[in-house]
Amino acid sequence: MADFETIIYEKRDGVAYVTLNRPQALNAYNLRMRDELYQVLGAVGDDPEVRVAIFKGAGERAFCAGADLTEFLTAPSPVIARQVRWERDIWGLFLGITKPLIAAVHGYVLGDGIEIALCCDLRLASEDAQFGMPEPGLGIIPAAAGSQTLPRTVGSAKALEILLTGRWLGADEAQRLKLVNQVVPRSKLLPAAERLASRIKAYHPVAVSYAKQAVTRGLELSLEQGLELEARLGSRLLHCQ
Ligand code: COA
Repeated sequence: MADFETIIYEKRDGVAYVTLNRPQALNAYNLRMRDELYQVLGAVGDDPEVRVAIFKGAGERAFCAGADLTEFLTAPSPVIARQVRWERDIWGLFLGITKPLIAAVHGYVLGDGIEIALCCDLRLASEDAQFGMPEPGLGIIPAAAGSQTLPRTVGSAKALEILLTGRWLGADEAQRLKLVNQVVPRSKLLPAAERLASRIKAYHPVAVSYAKQAVTRGLELSLEQGLELEARLGSRLLHCQ
């Protein structure tokens, strides 16, 4: 794959490592990162060698401190922005990946940072992680699926509290709210994510993918439709083993 400016993409033993790599700007998400992430997500989804992916941030201080404020409101006109979004729905692509995705977050996890983590299936945080959604304070709303993924994860009351008050959460509170699965010391963050990835990799990839789809797609369905989905995936799985 091409070398990127804002992301490091590596593959080792079936695990893709996606590192947001602008540590000088606390890995703030800019237009370049958006374009590069779009390519990387395509690779994670399509490459049969990739069984599971780990998303992390470069440097000591942040997973991602949100949208790049130096580009704030410098984007093209709303018409062009909307056209780009339709042509390249990065968050739809992210949420549609059927392989397991793990976010290993540390330091600042703000705005797009939380939203990227919420596009993953499992979230590990180091003890120093701080979570917040500053968008309404900047006069905007989340644009990376966060207004939908956050309430589905922590419930609408907590999601609204986080959004409407701008209050930040520490790692322990994030775990209590089930925003993250596990909190570990900073030095143990990547090893903990790799341990999870190894466990997942030991299972049959199609069973893993169908289990993920049964849960994530099922959440959007009625119980009856969800049961049909489960039966359909289960029967398809029997035929491919
Ligand atoms: N966009 C662009 N650059 C950012 C950034 C962002 N979202 N967040 C941090 N940076 C840059 C800073 O400008 C600074 O660059 P410099 O060294 O060239 O001056 C560098 O990253 C370090 O940040 P700094 O603000 O000096 O660190 P701090 O520890 O004092 O504060 C934060 C950290 C996260 C509290 C603070 O940087 C901040 O509030 N960032 C903006 C968060 C935000 O509102 N994001 C948008 C969400 S929609």
